[in-house]
Formats: sequence, C-alpha cells, structure tokens
Amino acid sequence: MDDREARRRVASRLRHQAGAPEPLYQPLLRALADDVEAGGPSWRPLAPVAHLPDDDVVPLRLLGAAHRLALTGLAPDYAAHLPTCGGDGDPGAAWHALRDLCASGGLDQGTLQPVQTNEPARAAALLPGFGEVAARTGLPLRLLEVGASAGLLLRFDAYRYEIGQETWGPPASPVQITAAGGAPLGPVEVRARRGCDLRPLDPTRDATLLLSFVWPSDVERFRRLQAALALAATIPVTIDEAGAAAWLEAQLVTPSEGVLTVVYHSIVWQYLSTAERAAARSAIEDAGRRADASAPVAWLRLEPHPEPGAGAELRLTTWPGPGEEVLALCGYHGGPIRWYRGAPGGPAPAA
Ligand SMILES: C[S@@+](CC[C@H](N)C(=O)[O-])C[C@H]1O[C@@H](n2cnc3c(N)ncnc32)[C@H](O)[C@@H]1O
Repeated sequence: MDDREARRRVASRLRHQAGAPEPLYQPLLRALADDVEAGGPSWRPLAPVAHLPDDDVVPLRLLGAAHRLALTGLAPDYAAHLPTCGGDGDPGAAWHALRDLCASGGLDQGTLQPVQTNEPARAAALLPGFGEVAARTGLPLRLLEVGASAGLLLRFDAYRYEIGQETWGPPASPVQITAAGGAPLGPVEVRARRGCDLRPLDPTRDATLLLSFVWPSDVERFRRLQAALALAATIPVTIDEAGAAAWLEAQLVTPSEGVLTVVYHSIVWQYLSTAERAAARSAIEDAGRRADASAPVAWLRLEPHPEPGAGAELRLTTWPGPGEEVLALCGYHGGPIRWYRGAPGGPAPAA
C-alpha cells in the first residue's frame, strides 16, 4: 500500500470512529482525519501503526496516548482543554494543542500501546446474574473471570449499586454505580476470586493507562474508574497472565465442593480466536459434565447481542441446570438493564 492509500485508509477509520455523537472526540477525530489526508503532522504518530487491523482501534491509541500525556502533566496545553484534567472542553483549542503534540514527536511511542479497558459499571449487569445463581444453589461463589483486565469486575461486591428502584452493596462504597432499568438483586457471598488475562493490569501501576482510554468529556465515568482502581488496590486478587482456554482447563480440572464455581466474562469473547473460543467452551462444558449439586458450575457472560447495535445480553448456563438462558438485555457499559428471565413476550433489544 502506498503512502497516499495508507493515509486514506487511516482517515476513513478516524471518520468511522467519529460516528458516536460526543462533544470533544468527535470533532477531534474529524480534524485528525482531514489533517492525515492533507499530509499534516498527525500522520507522524499514526504512520507506524497504520498497518494494524481495525480491531486495534488505532484512532483510540492516538487519543489515549495524548490523554495520558495530559494526565501526567506532560502536555499542559492539551490538558487545558480536557474536562478530565479540569480543562474547558473547547474542541477547536484542543485540536491546535493535539496537532502540536503530534508534530513534536511526543506521541510517537504512545501509539505503540494497545488500547486496554476495564469498565466497573458492567458489574451492574453481572450483579443480578450472580444473585440469580446464588439463589438457585444457596452456595457461596468461587469466581473465575476470563479477560479480567485489572480485575475491577472481580471486586464487584465492594461497590454500591442503584438499579432502578433496587439498591445493593455497602452504602459508603467509593464506587457508586447507577443503572436504569431493573433487575432483582439477591444476596451474594464470594468465597474465592481469581482471573486471567493475556495482559493483566495492575490497578495502581497501570491506573493512568486505563484512565487514558476513557473519553475525556465523560468525567463521571473517569471518576468512577479512578475510585474503582483505588479500591481495587486494597482488595488483593490474583489475575494470571494466561489465555482463556488453557487457564480454564487448569482451573476447572477438579470440581470444587461446597461452592458454586462461576466462570464469567464481559466483552471478551469476540477477542478470542475461533480455536480458542471452541477450546474454552469445551473446558467449561467438560467441567459442567463433572458438576453435581454439591459442586455446581455456572457460565455467565455479558457479551454483545447477536443483532448489531442492539447492546449486550447476559447469558447463563448452569450445571446441573435447565441449559442456556438469556437473563437480561443490557447496555454495552452495564445499564440500562432489562431483566428478561420470566418476562413474557421474549427478549427485546436493549436501548
Ligand atoms: C474489552 S476488554 C474487557 C475487560 C473486562 N472484561 C471489562 O469488561 O471491563 C477485553 C479483555 O480481554 C482480554 N483478552 C483478549 N483475548 C484474551 C484471551 N485469549 N484470553 C484471555 N484474555 C483475553 C484483553 O486483554 C482485555 O483485557
């Protein structure tokens, strides 16, 4: 691919990313696209990663790298326009500062860093699922999270929730999660927690990295993530550096008596290769065949709805149990939650 074609391709990805209506990144992404096509300075940090596939979300690598510099005090002119840094949110002024950062070479290393996220608000969608399986078995939970990132969803029971009319969790928790919709929230006791990730993150060491991928106009989400990272640092959890399938095979080889083993994941399955997905599924189903009422197994997953643009769905399989069920339809970041189990009329896509 020649240089002109590569620029055109990256510009088109920048414009595609600008599809979401948002007051700061949307105009910045459009300005970046025009600048890349016109041969401007933003091509400098983008050129070395232009060949990467769409899944690597190169536009967000660039914006995350710039946000990181702003958060660490190394880009004060850009920080002055980012709401997460106390700035004014002026997209025109932010664009001039961002273009200067690109020209300076300050983002050359940053775009080499893959995008990494961990969204504590997704716990609002998982929580009713944990309550459901706990109620069915009456057992404490042994949590096994695949693709746990920094483990923020492994500490879900330390957060306070308000979901529709229901509340759950310690009222004074520094992490307060509010979600529209509704779902029954029953008692849950966590006995053990462990996760895996190809690239596990540390809530303290990698806090700025995770924060940098929050869009800077979303101050509420940024503050919630900050609070969840600080809280996670006080609740030790093991997250093994491992791929999903091999890790599940190792964790599930022996049934665990007296607990309900809950394998779960959120917005992870799409990142597994076809072969790894099949092997992970086999490991879970094999464990299911070995399960019984004293050592049951559940597989809870919050993953995109099969219909594109329809949000996410919460699916459950239990052993012993009735098979696979859709429990709820949810937003991609947790709420709104439409609890489906038992509702007449079948599931409708989440808003
Ligand atoms: C979009 S993030 C979601 C993180 C977290 N589950 C959440 O909802 O906030 C996807 C995570 O899956 C991890 N991942 C991707 N492929 C994986 C694999 N084959 N095995 C384990 N983890 C994987 C990534 O490193 C990343 O942390």
